[in-house]
Amino acid sequence: MSEKNIESSLHEDRLFPPSDAFAKQANLSKSEYEKLVKKANTDFEGFWSDLANENLHWFKKWDKVLDWNEPFSKWFVNGKTNVSFNCLDRHLEKRGNKKALIWIGENEEKKELTYKELHEEVCKFSNVLINLGIKEKDRIIIYMPLVPEAVVAMLACTRIGAVHSVVFGGFSQEALADRINDSKAKLVITADGGYRRGQIVPLKINVDEALKKCTTVENVIVVGRINNNPQPSTINHQPLTFSWHELMSKSSAIHKATELDSEHPLFTLYTSGTTGKPKGILHSTAGYLLWATLTTKWIFDIKDSDIYWCSADIGWVTGHTYVVYGPLSNGATVLLYEGAPNFPDWGRFWKIINENKVSVFYTAPTAIRAFAKAGLDWVKKYDLSSLRLLGSVGEPINPEAWMWYHENIGNKKCPIVDTWWQTETGGIMISPLPGITSSKPGSATLPLPGIFVDIVDSEGKSTGPNEGGNLVIKKPWPSMLRTIWGDDERYRKTYWSHIKGSYFAGDGARRDKDGYYWVLGRIDDVIKVSGHRLSTMEVESSLVSHPSVAEAAVVGYPDDIKGEAICAFVTKKSNIKNDKTDEDLVKELKEHVTKEIGSIARPEKIHFTDALPKTRSGKIMRRLLRDIASGRQTTGDTTTLEDVNVLEKLREQEE
Ligand code: WTA
Repeated sequence: MSEKNIESSLHEDRLFPPSDAFAKQANLSKSEYEKLVKKANTDFEGFWSDLANENLHWFKKWDKVLDWNEPFSKWFVNGKTNVSFNCLDRHLEKRGNKKALIWIGENEEKKELTYKELHEEVCKFSNVLINLGIKEKDRIIIYMPLVPEAVVAMLACTRIGAVHSVVFGGFSQEALADRINDSKAKLVITADGGYRRGQIVPLKINVDEALKKCTTVENVIVVGRINNNPQPSTINHQPLTFSWHELMSKSSAIHKATELDSEHPLFTLYTSGTTGKPKGILHSTAGYLLWATLTTKWIFDIKDSDIYWCSADIGWVTGHTYVVYGPLSNGATVLLYEGAPNFPDWGRFWKIINENKVSVFYTAPTAIRAFAKAGLDWVKKYDLSSLRLLGSVGEPINPEAWMWYHENIGNKKCPIVDTWWQTETGGIMISPLPGITSSKPGSATLPLPGIFVDIVDSEGKSTGPNEGGNLVIKKPWPSMLRTIWGDDERYRKTYWSHIKGSYFAGDGARRDKDGYYWVLGRIDDVIKVSGHRLSTMEVESSLVSHPSVAEAAVVGYPDDIKGEAICAFVTKKSNIKNDKTDEDLVKELKEHVTKEIGSIARPEKIHFTDALPKTRSGKIMRRLLRDIASGRQTTGDTTTLEDVNVLEKLREQEE
């Protein structure tokens, strides 16, 4: 969060209590909430045991609620369940003809699937996977646009016990190859393309390029999104390539969900940490599903009558927990929109809400700020009266954006749930409960029942009211990551070595006198660009892989729409004959990063410099670069700088 926003959030004292009308109909009432909190405080395992009993279908009950051997947890030990069964089969009797998915393509196409139809597709695709030789625990990469087939693919993996790893369609072939190799995936599921802002995203071409660097993939399945039935000749390469439609047309719709162990690996999702190498966050079956189910029910207040829309892509954790698993496990009707928020114009989201009578809407602050900037005329053209609840996720929402959302989208009547969580936490940890909690714009408010959060100093001591500190989680929770794929040691070091006995989230936060949490942003080298997580190291290593670059330092700086934008300081190699102008090289480097990682990592600003500010021991002082990139006065100590002149020179350049 920028200093301006921290400043305004420090002085924020407006309070928005839930209306009586909302409170009366809420899934979670105040008295139930109080009972839950009491139970969690007095009988932690009993609390989780009751919830798991009441909210999930089990083939076999567990012997033990929690096996905790810090930092490794096992939940609902020896229980047997299945995610796809919970999301589909258990609804068939009551909700078989209810819409499960309403899909809208960027070009206005529309497709709807009932629970019965979605179940049939998932069963068929499960058989497709089995016939291709996929076994339990095999890894499958899903690199697709937001089309119903992507949801079918995810659910089919969970049905047979294969481990999916969805790679965001905006990631480059390099990033895709890294993820395929790290997970040693056997199969890639993709499409011949996807639509984004009127352009075709060349997914299949990226897969072909990536596979040149991979050896584990045996098969590729291609959905015909652009051409209904992609000609085999255009998709014919080694390893074997199959058309989704052809395989599905021959597949049986009868499949019995596999009875899987509670701790069976469910999915990995790669996310940025403080190093250049993204880490595969591993989630497992029962605990993840339990928390996805409960948080969706409590926080989004899901009812059978709702049309629920979370605008995240399935390439992010929000798209896993709150597009697919949470809402489907609750039997909700889920809207999916394939395209960009401003295509063909800035009214697109409001038009979708109007035409489909969306009642619960969950999006990101960066989108809210962009809509606010585009102007109210786009909003006023549409009837948004179907909305009854709004949500926000991905980065701190500044009070101004919160108020704009509240007044113009929620028409001052919808509660806003500002939800704090992470890829690692699997589900929401801190959020208002819409029928209970009074909101303060910019605060994610209070931890949920069963979640024990604190703010501590570097010694692990709780901080006082409004004193900043590290956000930690003090007890294990069912949807916590189990490890980093293939790297238990990195898991321990990253999350469990900073503060003794607690999970270290990597965020800075403060707690006000009412106990409300205000998340201020990352305190490590992770930055959030339009709500997407990137590590500065990742962008740096991409820059130094360019032949003209000797050294690079990357920092985030505040941006009104994106939250943060990327600024790179680059020193050029002196021994390379360079006849390009600086302007050309800037363009080339931006393209290079886009090609290596994806357009979300493209630096906004690149400065060339002869030297970077370093300590005497050679460590780049990013704090100073952040000040320069943000146009701030240098704060804090500069005495450890090896050469103070470097700073002066950089400052002159920036002006
Ligand atoms: C940030 C996204 C403030 C935070 C679900 C966290 C937030 C990181 C909020 C995780 C929020 C997410 N208020 N900050 N409501 N929600 N964050 O893994 O810095 O993509 O650590 O998960 O996003 O990002 P990730």
